[in-house]
Amino acid sequence: MYNWVITCIAWVESLVKKEIEMAWYKVTETEDRLVFWQWDDSAIAKLNLWSRCGNKVYLELAKKRITNFDMLFDLIKSIDWKHYVPENNPITVNAVSVKSGLESIPSIQSVSKKAIVEIKTWSRNWIMKEEQKLTEIEILVFIKDDFCRILLDTSWNALHKRWYRSESWEAPIKESLAASLVLLSSWRFWEPLLDPFCWSGTIVIEAWLIARNIAPGLNRSFTFENFSWYNKKYLEQAKIEAQSKIIRDKQYTITWSDIDENMVEIARRNVIKAWLKDTIKIETKDVKEYLDVPLTGTIVSNPPYWIRLRVDLNDIYKTISLLFLRNKTLNWWLITSYFDFDKIIKMDDWKKRKLYNWNEMCYLYKKKV
Ligand SMILES: C[S@@+](CC[C@H](N)C(=O)[O-])C[C@H]1O[C@@H](n2cnc3c(N)ncnc32)[C@H](O)[C@@H]1O
Repeated sequence: MYNWVITCIAWVESLVKKEIEMAWYKVTETEDRLVFWQWDDSAIAKLNLWSRCGNKVYLELAKKRITNFDMLFDLIKSIDWKHYVPENNPITVNAVSVKSGLESIPSIQSVSKKAIVEIKTWSRNWIMKEEQKLTEIEILVFIKDDFCRILLDTSWNALHKRWYRSESWEAPIKESLAASLVLLSSWRFWEPLLDPFCWSGTIVIEAWLIARNIAPGLNRSFTFENFSWYNKKYLEQAKIEAQSKIIRDKQYTITWSDIDENMVEIARRNVIKAWLKDTIKIETKDVKEYLDVPLTGTIVSNPPYWIRLRVDLNDIYKTISLLFLRNKTLNWWLITSYFDFDKIIKMDDWKKRKLYNWNEMCYLYKKKV
């Protein structure tokens, strides 16, 4: 049995918990931005393939209450690094410290590195460089309330890096957040789904992957594939199982549009990469055009809120409020940090909760019928 943990953005822990439970594992603990479970090494493939809302899957190598750097050093030295990390594979040490005596991130990193180097007597070329993350294995030292966990990354690139994203512009929404929004919205697949500010299409592509039950990690590589202690047959089995679970014979009414023709073109390219070119209807359209047609189903969208996008935000949000008044049966899920949104919409009918888009604090406004 190993202790596993998935990291995620704040406030989506319950969704990650559900993902772990859907893979038939029992969650042992949930903390702010961390969800834990226990299982053998077959668990890595499943969650790396299937987690839509998580950031990375880690193996917990050690944990202990620590109050000084000597204790950190000893904790790291107690780990059998030669077993867990392939010989001469460079590693990088990242650290998080919350409400703890050991505050300095650079010091935590350098003490940790020293302790690992003392154990790993392999060549000294095996020097760790934070900026070369692609080929390195990440060790995460996570200290909260003086409780330290040493975590080994099994994912490599963060899980939100899906295979289909060809370009990213300013203000894209993270794929894991887009998937979280769709799951929170409880969009019923037989009803229409609309994103009238689709940009590169992240929300609707994620919705489509969810509806078709396509594992978001199917088309990528993971660090754990290089671990000698990992039984590779588990990954092969998990991929075969994931392929067999894809729903191929259903049609969905997914509409997405954006005023910016270039963005619509990028969305089209992402759609082709995401294998959904046959089913998707993307248009270049001003959100105002929806004022003339009745809308039903669910809207999940990330309307513009950056002044530098050079659009009249007030005008756009007034259109949203008109659409809202004219389509009383629509489920609304809008994520924005637009500061005047509360004034424009009638808040009695709406609920709001905090979420992070990248490092930016946003609000998710929801109105469910
Ligand atoms: C914050 S972005 C959406 C990001 C998107 N969810 C993603 O990451 O893939 C907002 C989008 O609204 C579009 N937009 C701005 N004004 C618009 C309007 N009047 N009608 C429709 N789309 C508009 C912009 O072109 C931009 O693509």
